Amino acid sequence: MKNILVTGGAGFIGSNFINYMLNHRDDFNIVNLDKLTYAGNLANLTNVVNHKNYTFVKGDICNTDLVDYIFNKYNIEYVINFAAESHVDRSILGSEIFFKSNVLGTNTLLEAAKRYRIKKFVQISTDEVYGSLGPAGKFTEQTPLSPNSPYSSSKASADMMALAFYHTYDVPVVITRCSNNYGPYQFPEKLIPLMIINSMNNKKLPVYGDGLNVRDWVYVLDHNRAVEQVLESGKLGEVYNIGANREMKNIDIVKLILSQLNKSEDLIEFVKDRPGHDRRYAIDSSKIQNELGWKPKYAFEEAISQTINWYIENENWWRNILSAEYLEYYEKQYELR
Ligand code: NAD
Ligand code: TYD
Repeated sequence: MKNILVTGGAGFIGSNFINYMLNHRDDFNIVNLDKLTYAGNLANLTNVVNHKNYTFVKGDICNTDLVDYIFNKYNIEYVINFAAESHVDRSILGSEIFFKSNVLGTNTLLEAAKRYRIKKFVQISTDEVYGSLGPAGKFTEQTPLSPNSPYSSSKASADMMALAFYHTYDVPVVITRCSNNYGPYQFPEKLIPLMIINSMNNKKLPVYGDGLNVRDWVYVLDHNRAVEQVLESGKLGEVYNIGANREMKNIDIVKLILSQLNKSEDLIEFVKDRPGHDRRYAIDSSKIQNELGWKPKYAFEEAISQTINWYIENENWWRNILSAEYLEYYEKQYELR
């Protein structure tokens, strides 16, 4: 058995990862450390809560004593650090918590990884650290870091600290940089679930700017299959880009959602652009494909359609997590535009 600490495992990607791993592997004990911010939701993990290889600890990755206790008590040999503040718009409203959780939190985990001489530390990063592309080209692992939002800057800082721990202390770090994910359990502040839920509620769909910004979409399980592969055979000190070669303009995603839900395009409302809005992201994932043999498995048309159906069928899930705090944030943000 391998003992693995998964942080942020109650969030969108982390909970999909834990569900996926415990469903098809029996050689991992997973300890999930999550602070349960607005984005963390234990309902994402109801299928595994009683699994013999699963333990949940509520807490902050910035808490050195707690992190130390966990590494010691559970003999942690592997870390996958999903925990982060993850929403660009929130980082524009207030950057401090992004610095704390994403930079200082990663640093706390790296320090513990150094003390306990673990076998591998997978830092879950993002393609947003590379900044914004023009109409041509793709991000490779050699693209210089050029983050534009407080969110992406905090992720880039964490990446650099992780690589510094590899070079300076031989901490066995590997970094993944994935493009935009979609799938079940994504908090409805992000484009796809927000647009699905607003459509279902016949609320306006706020499209920023001209709606022509491009994101490169990957199904969350393909991302998690890649993380599993990197955990298994990723080379230490390396960075791996992850993406499924599926660029879409925001407006086309919104129209696709409306069409599947049989709703009118009159619901679309063009609103003031996000400050510093990155124009285009596109990932070259040939390194992970050639070196580790990973490739995306889920076709966009089918996976997006299943994702939309998941939100239709799981109305209880999203109604329960839309707290008063979130609705207040949403209205505040909306009024700013
Ligand atoms: P999310 O916001 O849905 O979940 C984040 C989780 O981390 C939540 O459960 C939250 O409670 C927890 N958390 C936050 N701060 C914490 C702290 N200080 N201590 C412990 N737990 C804390 O985010 P997500 O979309 O699942 O993203 C997970 C990771 O993947 C992030 O590191 C993000 O930067 C990265 N990423 C996300 C995407 C995407 O499209 N969502 C794409 C590429 C990379
Ligand atoms: P988002 O899901 O916030 O991911 P990211 O900014 O990390 O890529 O946004 C995806 C794209 O959708 C981005 O170009 C901003 C845009 N967007 C809107 O147009 N309206 C919205 O209400 C949201 C949340 C995003």
